[in-house]
Amino acid sequence: MNKTPIIIDCDPGHDDAIALLIALASDKFDLRGITTVAGNQTLAKTTLNALKVLELCKRTEVKVVPGRSNPFMKEVIVAKDVHGESGMDGPVLPTPTTKPYPMFAAEFIADEVEKCPTKMTLVAVGPFTNIATFLLAYPHLHSKIEKIHVMGGGIYEGNRTYLAEFNVWNDPEAAKVVTNSKIPVHFFGLDVTHRAVILKEEFEIFRNEKGPVFQFVADLLDFFAICYIGERGLPGCPMHDSCAVASLIDLSMFVGEEAFIDVELDGKTRGACVVDLRPVGRRVDANNGFFYYDVDRPRFLQLIIDSCRRLESDIKAKEQA
Ligand code: RIB
Ligand code: CA
Repeated sequence: MNKTPIIIDCDPGHDDAIALLIALASDKFDLRGITTVAGNQTLAKTTLNALKVLELCKRTEVKVVPGRSNPFMKEVIVAKDVHGESGMDGPVLPTPTTKPYPMFAAEFIADEVEKCPTKMTLVAVGPFTNIATFLLAYPHLHSKIEKIHVMGGGIYEGNRTYLAEFNVWNDPEAAKVVTNSKIPVHFFGLDVTHRAVILKEEFEIFRNEKGPVFQFVADLLDFFAICYIGERGLPGCPMHDSCAVASLIDLSMFVGEEAFIDVELDGKTRGACVVDLRPVGRRVDANNGFFYYDVDRPRFLQLIIDSCRRLESDIKAKEQA
């Protein structure tokens, strides 16, 4: 089977961690590396968390490459209120024995894109700072990018202001570089990710299955629920970042359409995504991507469960080898 070459840029992050599990479990990807960015927590913490997830899954052959420690125009504003002091509070994982790969994320992305015999797909599930830095620094490599799947934005929803979603809000200039790049960008914003939830009553699915990966996810959900269920009143934990990865495995579980997507940089709407979905009147040649707004939640949940089962089986096989 032809595997899709991907690089995942992330800021683990409870939901980033679960998105990484889906990617690690899938046979569909040639995961060329994981790059980390400041977002949910500082770059040092998001990088450490990515290393912890790979070590848990016994997948330390996958490189973790740190990138930007701040957005383009200001200091990062972390989401300690959502993800805690470590950026992945709740689960207790050992200090990783592996170290970050000694390159800069944008340079690593360029190196892998250059080496890749086919076009590369990029996934961004933190602020888009690293992806934008790569796009600005290596314009000659844009033609070797198939598409970019991002978690970000929202048509009718915001979570850092009433209009702006955290990843785009933290670095709107970077998000605008991505939407202006002419590379097809697939946005999985809050409209779909707030439907892509693991319900409180479904947490026990993970708690009741044996194995370190299921227990890790159960611990992630318990902590994530403090904010999303306890404070924000959602019926479950939104698997924001898993949408950007699951859609590369099976796009048919998502509903969206081609759109013109732009990013506001100034005033009260700074960090908001402007999404033109008008059936008429829209300059169709202006379309620069796809915006998704619904998901087949049972299929999505099953993919997460199946991914955890696959990883548990892989871990057992490695332990018995
Ligand atoms: O707004 C949700 C996004 O911000 C997710 O990617 C979450 O991990 C945080 O980075
Ligand atoms: Ca994230």
